[in-house]
Amino acid sequence: GKSGYDHYMLKEIHEQPTAVRQCLHERVTELERRIDVEALEMLSVPTQVQFVACGTSYHAALYGVRLLRDRGVPATAFLASEYDAGSTPVGDETLVVGVTQSGETADTMGALRGANSAGATTIAVTNVVGSSAARECDHVMYVRAGPEIGVAATKTFVSQQIALVLLASELTGEYDDDLAAALRDLPGQLQTVLDDSSAREIATEYRGADAYFFIGRGYNAPVSLEGALKMKEITYKHAEGFAAGELKHGPLALVTDRTPVFALVTGGSNPTKTIGNVKEVETRGAPIVAVTDGSADAGRHADHVLEIPATHPAIAPVLGNVQLQLVSYWVANELGRSIDKPRNLAKSVTVE
Ligand code: F6R
Repeated sequence: GKSGYDHYMLKEIHEQPTAVRQCLHERVTELERRIDVEALEMLSVPTQVQFVACGTSYHAALYGVRLLRDRGVPATAFLASEYDAGSTPVGDETLVVGVTQSGETADTMGALRGANSAGATTIAVTNVVGSSAARECDHVMYVRAGPEIGVAATKTFVSQQIALVLLASELTGEYDDDLAAALRDLPGQLQTVLDDSSAREIATEYRGADAYFFIGRGYNAPVSLEGALKMKEITYKHAEGFAAGELKHGPLALVTDRTPVFALVTGGSNPTKTIGNVKEVETRGAPIVAVTDGSADAGRHADHVLEIPATHPAIAPVLGNVQLQLVSYWVANELGRSIDKPRNLAKSVTVE
């Protein structure tokens, strides 16, 4: 059941501290300074990593790309429907990671089959034990989010993000004390965000907006895409996410005083530059909501602030994303949408 929540989506948003704890369980040992993902122990550092995924899982893959590049491993994310192992250089030194919550997405399965035939080593990062992706791949890492009923992916996305942090660390054998501490503190910080968020008031104020825009740089860029996707899916309103620097290359023409802009401004992800972009939309009269840990004094340029606790730069977008999930949820709720089963969408997309 929904345990007293009006929708599965809200219940699942609130289950994220637990989902993260489950994903981390017995995989990080701070005392021994080790990260162990049982399924990946045998792998050596790959010469390149290619992610294949769709939708929300693709946004997790984009986040994974950055984690690997930060550790010196060349990495690319492909939309699974666009992946063609025939025209993409793949060899036995290539690691192909399929990120798929359900493990059944037809496009992702097609890409993984192609990668396997081309001789790549494959890993499924999935939530469903024994799923098609788990069976197709050489290795499988479970994200351990628990069952997700709402069509909009929420806790599985957070679990994918954390799984990819662990995967990047395991593959490169890098242990970072600050990152491990941030992971340890994350469930508590997620709870703080859930308890203190002012997303509902902001959603009420902006429920009549023409469109919603989301911007962020670096580690925050994939979350700006995810914020927009969630908004589209459950509110049926126009929403777009951009890497903050792209705004002035076209999308700025859409910005008016009826298009709130949500800016993710956190430490380590070029906050000062993102504030520069915030000023660009400020002069067009757009309402600004800063999702911020206080970096670059973002609150000073914003009409509203959605606060997140200070953490490691790579973990900040995990917290910021939860604020955006809540905004979308409450806008959809205000508009009386069918939140758990949005029109035209299915939980698992088994056609190409
Ligand atoms: C968004 C959503 C979809 C899925 C996509 C991939 O909320 O649920 O975009 O993320 O269909 O699904 P999986 O991860 O099962 O491969």
